[in-house]
Amino acid sequence: MAMSIFSTPMLLAAFEILLLLLYFSRRRVKYRLPPGPKGLPILGNVFNAPKSFEWLAYQDWSRQYDSDVVHFEILGTHYVVLNSAKATVDLFEKRSNIYSDKIDSPMVKLTGWNRSFALMGYGDYWRAHRRLSHQYFRPAAVSKYYPSSAKSVHEMILALRDTPGRFMEHIRHMAGSNILRIVYGIEVKPEDDPLIPIVEESVQVFSKITVAGAYLGNVT
Ligand SMILES: *[C@@H]1O[C@H](CO)[C@@H](O)[C@H](O)[C@H]1NC(C)=O
Repeated sequence: MAMSIFSTPMLLAAFEILLLLLYFSRRRVKYRLPPGPKGLPILGNVFNAPKSFEWLAYQDWSRQYDSDVVHFEILGTHYVVLNSAKATVDLFEKRSNIYSDKIDSPMVKLTGWNRSFALMGYGDYWRAHRRLSHQYFRPAAVSKYYPSSAKSVHEMILALRDTPGRFMEHIRHMAGSNILRIVYGIEVKPEDDPLIPIVEESVQVFSKITVAGAYLGNVT
């Protein structure tokens, strides 16, 4: 009785070869990558990439690999971390025409954060925002907002005097009220303003979705 070549072990072997080919074809990176933690085949650094306080792990890697630019990989997606102001300015400012753009992340789109200037991809919409942002937030323009910042800081100092134990809340309120006043012209209530938790919640969503490898939906 002849064995069919489509027996289960054969199929499994073929599948494995296919996976390996896929792996090697994705692995074939044309350029030398910066140093970084070794990953598993295919999975890459799924298990050793940090899911929270990622900056601490990145800093450790920088020390360990003696480089302010480190690299890791998750399921074929390559991440390069710039761990010094110098590396960041060199690549994102001096050579921004080749290195500067935003991540193309499904999680960013699903949460609506792609409407934020910080995560908006390059294009006409981005250019319009860049123009506005330059007009109102370039270094020479921000002195206009000093009175607003001073007001928020004064309020915070009074609040700290009255209820020092709630300092975290006061600091957040100071930043939130100042930002809402400058950007939207909204004057928030001194306490329990419903807008402040909304701002904080959205910022928390932002920090969750931008952690590299935290969501499989981001792996493309
Ligand atoms: C954000 O993503 C959604 C869904 O892909 C898209 O419809 C929308 O145009 C995007 N907005 C911006 C500003 O890119």
